[in-house]
Amino acid sequence: MKRTRLFAPLIGTLLAGCLQAKPLAGDVKMNAFIDGLMNRMTLEEKIGQLNLLSVGFTATGPQLNQDVESQIKHGLAGGVFNVYRPAAVRKLQSLAVHQTRLGIPLLFGFDVIHGYKTIFPVPLALSCTWSPAAIERSARVAADEATADGVNWTFSSMVDLCRDPRWGRIVEGAGEDPYLGARIASAMVRGYQGEDLSRSNALLACVKHFALYGAVEAGRDYNTVDMSRHRMYQYYLPPYRAAVEAGAGSVMTSFNDINGLPATGDHWLVTDVLRKQWGFQGFVVSDYEAISEMTAWGMGDLSKDAELALRAGVDMDMVSEAYLKCLPELVSRGEIPVSLVNQACRRILEAKYKLGLFSDPYRGCTEERARAEILTPQNRRVARELAEQSCVLLKNDGPLLPLKKSGIIALVGPLAEDQSNLLGSWRAGGDWRLAVSVAAGISNVAGATVSVLHAQGANLIDDPALRATLRAFGEYLPVDRRSPQETLKQAVAVAKRADVVVAVLGESAGMSGEAASRSRLGLPQGQENLLRALVKTGKPVVLVLMNGRPLTLTWEAAHCGAILETWFGGTEAGNAIADVLFGDYNPSGKLTATFPRDVGQIPIYYNHQNTGRPYRNDPGFKYVSRYLDVSNDPLYPFGYGLSYTTFAFGGVQLSRTNLTADETLLASVGVTNTGQRAGSETVQLYLSQPEAGMARGVEDLRGFQKVYLQPGETKTVTFRITPDDLKFYNENLQYDWEPGEFIIRIGDNSSQVKSASVRWQKRI
Ligand code: BGC
Repeated sequence: MKRTRLFAPLIGTLLAGCLQAKPLAGDVKMNAFIDGLMNRMTLEEKIGQLNLLSVGFTATGPQLNQDVESQIKHGLAGGVFNVYRPAAVRKLQSLAVHQTRLGIPLLFGFDVIHGYKTIFPVPLALSCTWSPAAIERSARVAADEATADGVNWTFSSMVDLCRDPRWGRIVEGAGEDPYLGARIASAMVRGYQGEDLSRSNALLACVKHFALYGAVEAGRDYNTVDMSRHRMYQYYLPPYRAAVEAGAGSVMTSFNDINGLPATGDHWLVTDVLRKQWGFQGFVVSDYEAISEMTAWGMGDLSKDAELALRAGVDMDMVSEAYLKCLPELVSRGEIPVSLVNQACRRILEAKYKLGLFSDPYRGCTEERARAEILTPQNRRVARELAEQSCVLLKNDGPLLPLKKSGIIALVGPLAEDQSNLLGSWRAGGDWRLAVSVAAGISNVAGATVSVLHAQGANLIDDPALRATLRAFGEYLPVDRRSPQETLKQAVAVAKRADVVVAVLGESAGMSGEAASRSRLGLPQGQENLLRALVKTGKPVVLVLMNGRPLTLTWEAAHCGAILETWFGGTEAGNAIADVLFGDYNPSGKLTATFPRDVGQIPIYYNHQNTGRPYRNDPGFKYVSRYLDVSNDPLYPFGYGLSYTTFAFGGVQLSRTNLTADETLLASVGVTNTGQRAGSETVQLYLSQPEAGMARGVEDLRGFQKVYLQPGETKTVTFRITPDDLKFYNENLQYDWEPGEFIIRIGDNSSQVKSASVRWQKRI
């Protein structure tokens, strides 16, 4: 066993080497083409390819500036980003193709994060569908639309695992679990890139932010990361690796440092792990000015930054122009071998070649194609379905939901009629005027049979300083000029006249996303006051939440009849929310990030270790791993989400209880719909190993299946478990399994499982 452990990485490296040594026929052609091209390129032209320019944009679209045009004409750009629309793209591309010496086409990058013009729910919401296939579909639609408008490269998918909801960018990822995160990461890459990158509707994916950005200390954006290698390999790195293995053509480095070295200057990370261990063949781009930011990290001046990044393996410099300004001299002084510039340039040219840009630099983008393919009814339908599937029903006493399509509804709250915030952060080419508000959705779905009374009740944000910061960056934050008391009073009066109150509350879009860390995770104060006043009326209150992160909802959970988490649902949010509220869609979303009771519990995540003094919910035990003032349990655990029906799980049936080496175990459970409506349940498989050479997490997700059941129907769900599912990174960072006892846990969320135990031996 020792021998395998020692040689496994070496064999991997040799294998990767062999694969590289024997290029495929297409690669031979590509290499010959690029050799020919590079033989004609000057050093400056090669360095130009390593430069990525940002183009400013206004509310109505991209704005091209003179300097960008002149840089392109002088061969000083390998790509630009934030340029879209066929006319704008064609204009710049034709400068590159017709007005530079060698006519090398540009990459056109854009943050197409959750849709291009048809905006899907934010990524954290999408992950709550637990449906990689549906998420792949959303990425495909985004790619169809973005490429029709001239974009050929998206800065997605964002796969940063996150256990800290203070970090605003948790909204951009798939939550806290490496297994689910990896499944979603590869689905997105497949969706964007398709089978063949040279197709005119394929969008080059960019996995970001490499690496560990979701683990920034204290949840504060751009902050430091200090992490053991074991934790990286076991939890944080798998989603990046899965995206790379799915064929992602590019990777973006992150803003954070890792154990003292900024990721953008970290050779071990960008070359040893990414390229040598994982066999990544594409190109690496820095994040926005992340190269020049290394000066503030304390790594030296711009020239040192450029050297550090290039040597680490960063091929393209986003915005900081460190390569453009410093590499010519560094190379001419012999401080950097020209081979490093050649290598980076080659990788970028390869991506362009694979995208087919040398055959058709415009990739067929035209106004006609854009008109035909963007925001089609079909695309909007997919967005509506995904928005329905990503809603998570957190509470439903009574049951209060679904609502009847009759009677009087008081629709209250600053997000009830909002069309802008519901697009969330990163809205690409999305137009908020085309988005469906909750108010509009209710009228579309319930029509004239319900009567709806409206009241804003509170401002989204009352804090003038926060409002000013968010507005300065384009946030739409209308303010009711009446006093808070007056606004609230009107809402209470409206509530009193209604049969039920639907309060649509939450964050503004800019309160999550980049540079949007929060230290308190409750509803903004004015909204909280409103909710308390509404509850006090004694009317049943349905809380509909829009937000980009887990919130602390302890009071809300105790006092509202029903809580529906809708995140930011995108263009079709209002229709989808109304579908769920009135029961046209039976909610099926499951949380992918733990909801804490209190900020003091953070980081809080389901796959934590047990400690030597495991928590007991018993005041008689003081000397255990616990808080004195709050329980260790989350408010809502990972994997949690209710339905309008109920499901009962039978016991876990195992095909055997003693296994050897590479045998396969079948673990089954019968799931019955015990309620009155058809619905889907996500059956989740967790594994744990009570005894091993290293302390393991209390459980790890290893599989999930969705089943759709009619009332009274039972289906048996079976998981195939092989030794691969038992593997973990041991203390030598080798990925292997250890024989012994394993607990197979199956349930409808991470803390509600049925279990059975097996023993698995290695062959002697
Ligand atoms: C973000 C990236 C994004 C880039 C380009 C950066 O500030 O961190 O996620 O892709 O800007 O817009």
